[in-house]
Amino acid sequence: MTTLPLGPDSALLQPVTAGALQAPNRIWMAPLTRNRANPDGTPNELQAEYYSQRAGAGVIITEGSQPAAVGQGYPNTPGVHTDAQQDGWKRVADSVHAAGGRIVVQLMHAGRISHSSTIGGQTPVAPSAVRAAGEVYTAEGLQPFSEPRALATDELPAVIAEFADAARRAVAAGLDGVELHAANGYLLHQFLADGVNQRTDTFGGSPQNRARFVVEVAKAVSAAIGADRVGIRISPAHPFNDITEDDISVYEVLTSQLAELGLAYLHVLAAPDDPIVGKLRATWPATFVLNTGFGVESDRDQLERLVADGVADAITVGRPFLANPDLVQRWTRGTELNEPDQATFYAGGAKGYTDYAPLS
Ligand SMILES: Cc1cc2nc3c(=O)[nH]c(=O)nc-3n(C[C@H](O)[C@H](O)[C@H](O)COP(=O)(O)O)c2cc1C
Repeated sequence: MTTLPLGPDSALLQPVTAGALQAPNRIWMAPLTRNRANPDGTPNELQAEYYSQRAGAGVIITEGSQPAAVGQGYPNTPGVHTDAQQDGWKRVADSVHAAGGRIVVQLMHAGRISHSSTIGGQTPVAPSAVRAAGEVYTAEGLQPFSEPRALATDELPAVIAEFADAARRAVAAGLDGVELHAANGYLLHQFLADGVNQRTDTFGGSPQNRARFVVEVAKAVSAAIGADRVGIRISPAHPFNDITEDDISVYEVLTSQLAELGLAYLHVLAAPDDPIVGKLRATWPATFVLNTGFGVESDRDQLERLVADGVADAITVGRPFLANPDLVQRWTRGTELNEPDQATFYAGGAKGYTDYAPLS
């Protein structure tokens, strides 16, 4: 369906700054796991092509990428913890920059959202030994999640250090920064969520304690690469990956402490009319980025209104970006969109990845 072009005054087309990131527009690419890395987690030529095709995004936030081998959730996701992976990211960063874009890597430690066969026979780690309900993709097909083991208190500094090391590697590879994935039920979210975190040490219990691990990670990563290159994604009360969260006051505690660090941006996945969005927007002192969630696919005119009305400074777009490498141009002109092909989201290979046609 074609629609009206966006005018030069369009809110979505205005530049925006987020810490050290200077985005020429407010249509950012949401993180999308695509399972195309080499089996050892090294980003390859195909990924470099995919991301450079999408360099028109205000900022590209990459697919979730593990800061440690044990933090891998699914087959063929990229890592940021070996020299080969760092070299692979350099190839991606260089090709996105050559195409005029900006790119940050999403650091995603899957925690309990994994299977031991994906992580070389290791047991997944989590705040508490609580197995997630449901099944996870593995090289042998869908299998029930593995039962995780609880991280001991004295193991946490090493996990925090893995995030900082991965951030250092990201910047050394030429990426423009990192996004900490504290959403969608992965390790950082598992610490925040009262339904999953059953710890009795200073990292469990009260909202202050549940926020502590994420704050410590954000501090260590900021010290490693500068807070102005660090964003964070949260999804308050989102039930994805068997999260239950009754007490979401943890997010006010979390963001008030993160605000003091001077992070580049806060990225919230929530329905725009969820009261938490307005609450966090009102108190967050820096750039506020919104993703409207899985329920409905992102819609240009709705997003234009949200940015024009100041609900968010920028928005991230997932599926439409997946299917339209030149999404910003298409939305600007009001031209027709390619439809995303769900069957190839996680399938591997170029089909449904780099072969979505741009406008002629
Ligand atoms: C194929 C696919 C992979 C995704 N992978 C990630 C991911 O790695 N990290 C993340 O934070 N969100 C991930 N998401 C969620 C998206 O970032 C986004 O929040 C969601 O798709 C809703 O936005 P949309 O309606 O614009 O697609 C994924 C979504 C899809 C469809």
